[in-house]
Amino acid sequence: MAKLFEPLKVRELEIRNRIFIPAMCQYSCENQDGVVNEWHLVHLGARATGGAGMIIAEASGVTPEGRISPWCPGIWNYEQVAAWARVNEYIHSQGAKSAIQLAHAGRKGSTYREWSGKGSVPIEKGGWQTISSTSEAFDGYEPPRELTTQEVHELVHDFASAAKNAVLAGFDAVEVHAAHGYLIHQFLSPITNKRTDEFGGSLENRARIVLEIVKAIRAEVGELLPIFVRLSATDYREDGWDVEQTIQVAKWCADLGADLFDISSGGLITGVNIPSGPGYQVPLAEKVADQVSQPVGAVGQITSAQQAEDILQNDNVDIVLIGRASLRDPYWALRAAHELGVEVDYWPKQYLRGKFPQA
Ligand SMILES: Cc1cc2nc3c(=O)[nH]c(=O)nc-3n(C[C@H](O)[C@H](O)[C@H](O)COP(=O)(O)O)c2cc1C
Repeated sequence: MAKLFEPLKVRELEIRNRIFIPAMCQYSCENQDGVVNEWHLVHLGARATGGAGMIIAEASGVTPEGRISPWCPGIWNYEQVAAWARVNEYIHSQGAKSAIQLAHAGRKGSTYREWSGKGSVPIEKGGWQTISSTSEAFDGYEPPRELTTQEVHELVHDFASAAKNAVLAGFDAVEVHAAHGYLIHQFLSPITNKRTDEFGGSLENRARIVLEIVKAIRAEVGELLPIFVRLSATDYREDGWDVEQTIQVAKWCADLGADLFDISSGGLITGVNIPSGPGYQVPLAEKVADQVSQPVGAVGQITSAQQAEDILQNDNVDIVLIGRASLRDPYWALRAAHELGVEVDYWPKQYLRGKFPQA
């Protein structure tokens, strides 16, 4: 049996295989109110029908200012909860599980959607004053306002309330977005965190925000809900965040109740060399997996079934996340089962006449 199709249990949650769909922004809440709609239902639903084990819904703001763009979803109010509930009902009807990425964009918020502009959306056009660990701007964006210590504590609470909303919406897990240069990463990295309060300075202090968030979520949602954490393992700059700090913070998060680590990289700053190529972030995930006992996911240019299977067989990681390849092919998982010769019992009945191999 291919490892890719072995089920995975995280706390009490049974996931039918090791294929996760990573969070991918859709910029499609057309009313700019953070409420998901038919696009999200069909987009996420298609990937559940397509056989993936876990569907992670895109970066969703824990507050309005936490969104990346005015078109990004939110999970801070009940209208948003109700809209997500419909998406989850469909995902579950297909035998897949769901998580939501709880996010705060910090200084990388209030942006245009990829296809409609660059830089910050002005306040008079629906944008907002961004906030961060620092008052220094991200390249090409408006400068953020540096958060007070009290405001950082309040943000921790916002993540916990959002996690409670995620449970109400029927998500099976939550993922804390601590990667890609968004707010938590802005606190983690010494490049963007020069604070002198309890949230800056030593690694313990820079990590305090994510540790408090994990702790607060666990306290809010109880013992059952799996908590995933997405971390960038490096800033690709000498004086920045690196894999050793990532491993230490993952261990601390695990001690506080985090269950799974999704290892990505970069996103904090521009002007660095990011080595890309097939599976380019796998070695980073492997380094983390070697040091923590929780399951670890690898992501980044994993495109073929055999490549994904080889990573699980050889690289000591437990999960693969299939992003852009699943945008090209929502049925990536079903196709992979066929290519690896695995018989799965979740081929949609309605599509049996199209089942691989063709009759
Ligand atoms: C359209 C798009 C939107 C994305 N949005 C998010 C996001 O909301 N949160 C996140 O952590 N990563 C986001 N990413 C990064 C992906 O989750 C993934 O890490 C990245 O695409 C590399 O994997 P891949 O090569 O399989 O696509 C996005 C990527 C794409 C292509």
